[in-house]
Amino acid sequence: MKRLNSQLQEDGCPLELILLIRTLLAGCKEISFRVGQGELAGVLGSTLSENVQGETQKKLDVISNQILKDILSESGYVKALSSEEEDTVVPCHPEGKYLVSIDPLDGSSNIDINSLIGTIFSIQHAPQWMDADDPEAFLQPGAQTVAAGYVLYGPSTVMMLTTGRGTHLYTLDKTHGGFLLTKGNIQIPEQTQEFAINASNQRHWEKPMQDYIGDLLKGEDGPRGKNFNMRWIAAMVGDIHRVLTRGGIFTYPYDNREPNKPGKLRLLYEANPMSFLIEQAGGMAWTPEKRIMEIMPTEIHQRVPVIMGSKQEVEVCLEYHTKAKKD
Ligand code: F6P
Repeated sequence: MKRLNSQLQEDGCPLELILLIRTLLAGCKEISFRVGQGELAGVLGSTLSENVQGETQKKLDVISNQILKDILSESGYVKALSSEEEDTVVPCHPEGKYLVSIDPLDGSSNIDINSLIGTIFSIQHAPQWMDADDPEAFLQPGAQTVAAGYVLYGPSTVMMLTTGRGTHLYTLDKTHGGFLLTKGNIQIPEQTQEFAINASNQRHWEKPMQDYIGDLLKGEDGPRGKNFNMRWIAAMVGDIHRVLTRGGIFTYPYDNREPNKPGKLRLLYEANPMSFLIEQAGGMAWTPEKRIMEIMPTEIHQRVPVIMGSKQEVEVCLEYHTKAKKD
């Protein structure tokens, strides 16, 4: 089986980026080990603090953030880091060529129930004229991302990675500690009969999303003429892994519970890296209005509504939104 290094070289990845990805993964291997130890290592449960988004931090959120922050800051490849668990950007090395954005442990509510969680990351070029502590450096559209991926700490630890030459799946071989390519060039089926949404928020969605999901639920008797299945893992990393593996549509739409919040998921730490992986696998990733990768961020912790996955199904969902605007 091909090793990560060989695949990255084949994809034309510059040496420094390869070294950065390997450094990041060394941190993820440590997180994988701690996750596996669970209660034995005393890593379950909550801390007494909240992150900048007002969410209670779990012990593993804090541990994972610290592991990645330490390893990336010391590497010399990274100019600055932005993290879902940090209030502002973390300056790393003034000569570092890259910026890294991380969700150190996505799906925190799954930690204590021993269910799927993962680390999501994306890497961009660092503008050399900006200071390492300048958050403006991170305000680049997702289309400028040079590498993105996630490590999923499931029954096996796997990584989905793209450097813009397809999306590839690797599995951590814990016997020798390396990631081996287990499926190259992932292709998401264009059509699907599976959707993922937190249906408990249904009454808060906007009308086009109500109508779209309503029609999926009508199954073969409704306008779609086929039955749909629903899945919700409550960790984006798990739901997107399923979509990349067998297709589907994943959405966390805007809802009117907090009208000032444009959605739940974060553009830099979740929506952009997942969009890059999905697009490189032939899928689509949009808000109701535009391609996620084209959004110009206005602040590092920005949130966006997301609709992503199998191309034809995303198009159908977007049509409901376009039609509603015209009516
Ligand atoms: O970061 C947020 C997150 O945990 C995502 O990974 C996941 O898709 C979503 O929130 C789950 O939200 P909810 O709690 O509404 O199911």
